[in-house]
Amino acid sequence: PDVELCADRAEFDRTLARFAVPGHTAVVMTMGALHSGHASLIRTARERVGAKGLVTVTVFVNPLQFGAGEDLDRYPRTLDADLRLAAEAGADIVFAPRVEDVYPGGEPQVRVSAGPMGERYEGAFRPGHFDGVLTVVAKLLHLTRPDVAFFGEKDAQQLAVIRRMVRDLNFPVEIVGVPTVREGDGLALSSRNRYLSGPERATALSLSRALFAGRDAGLLAAGPAGERAVPGDADRVASPAAVRRAARAALEEATDAEPPLVPDYVALVDPADFTEVPDDFTGEAVLAVAARVGTTRLIDNIRLVFG
Ligand code: PAJ
Repeated sequence: PDVELCADRAEFDRTLARFAVPGHTAVVMTMGALHSGHASLIRTARERVGAKGLVTVTVFVNPLQFGAGEDLDRYPRTLDADLRLAAEAGADIVFAPRVEDVYPGGEPQVRVSAGPMGERYEGAFRPGHFDGVLTVVAKLLHLTRPDVAFFGEKDAQQLAVIRRMVRDLNFPVEIVGVPTVREGDGLALSSRNRYLSGPERATALSLSRALFAGRDAGLLAAGPAGERAVPGDADRVASPAAVRRAARAALEEATDAEPPLVPDYVALVDPADFTEVPDDFTGEAVLAVAARVGTTRLIDNIRLVFG
C-alpha cells in the first residue's frame, strides 16, 4: 500500500484538491510514533468512508500542548515507520507539517479555551494543556477540512473537550470515538510506553489493573443479576463508591512497587463533562486514572455502565 506524504500546507492543499471526496473525507490526528492504537483509528476511518473515500493522518508534535518540564524535546519522532504503519492501516495521505507551517507567526495570540472542563483532572495537572490541544485541533480541522474526525477513548477527557468544542463552536465535522487498544496484559498502548524500562513497565501495569479492580468490585456489587455486557460494550456494574474504593486501593498498592507508582488521580466521571458521578448514578461513566512511573506520566480509563 502507498501513502502520499505532504510536508507542508501548500502540498497538502494540492493533494486534497486532487483526491478529496465530498462527504467521505476523514482525518485522524496524531503526534506520530504511531502504534496499533493509532492504526485502529485509521482502520476505523477507512471503514467509515469506504474504499473511495479519503483518509488523512496528521503527524504533528504540537508544542502548544506541552507544559514546561514536559517531554516535548524527547517526544519520539519516527516518520519513516509512521508512513509504513499509516499506509498499512489504510491511510491515503500523511500530512506532517513543520511547526513554522502550523504556527507561522510564532505562538498564536488567540487560542481556543477548554473552559472549566479543561481545568479538571488532566487539566489540573497540566495547566493550559487542553487549550493547546483544542487550538491545534481547531487549526488542523480547518487545514484538512474533514467530514469526520476520529479520536481515541484512551484520552477520554481530550475526546470530551473536542466534542464540546465542536458543539459549542459549530464546527461542521462529526467526531467519532474509538475504543482503547491494549497489550495482551492490559497496558494501554501509548507513544510514551517506549520511555519505560522493563521494571517501570511492570509498575505501569498497575494503571490498567486498578481500572479492572474497580470494574470487578462494581460487578460484584451488582450481585448475581449484574450481567456482563457483550464484548466491546461497556461493562454493566453497580455502586460508584465500591468502584472508586477498589481502584484507589489497587493504585495505592503500587506505590510500594520498585520502581514505585506515583498516583495523580482516580476519577469516576460523566464522559460528557468530566464531573464526578454521584453515588446513585445510572448510565455510562468513565473510570480514569493518571500516575507517574519514573519520569513518565501515564493515563488510562475504562467505560462502565451503572444501573
Ligand atoms: P496522540 O497521543 O498521538 O494520539 C493520537 C490519537 O490516537 C488520539 O485520538 C488518541 O486518543 C489515540 N490513541 C492513542 N493511544 C491509543 C490507544 N491505545 N487506543 C486507541 N486510541 C489511541 O492525542 C494526541 O496525539 C494529540 O493530543 C492530538 C489530538 C493529535 C492533538 O495534538
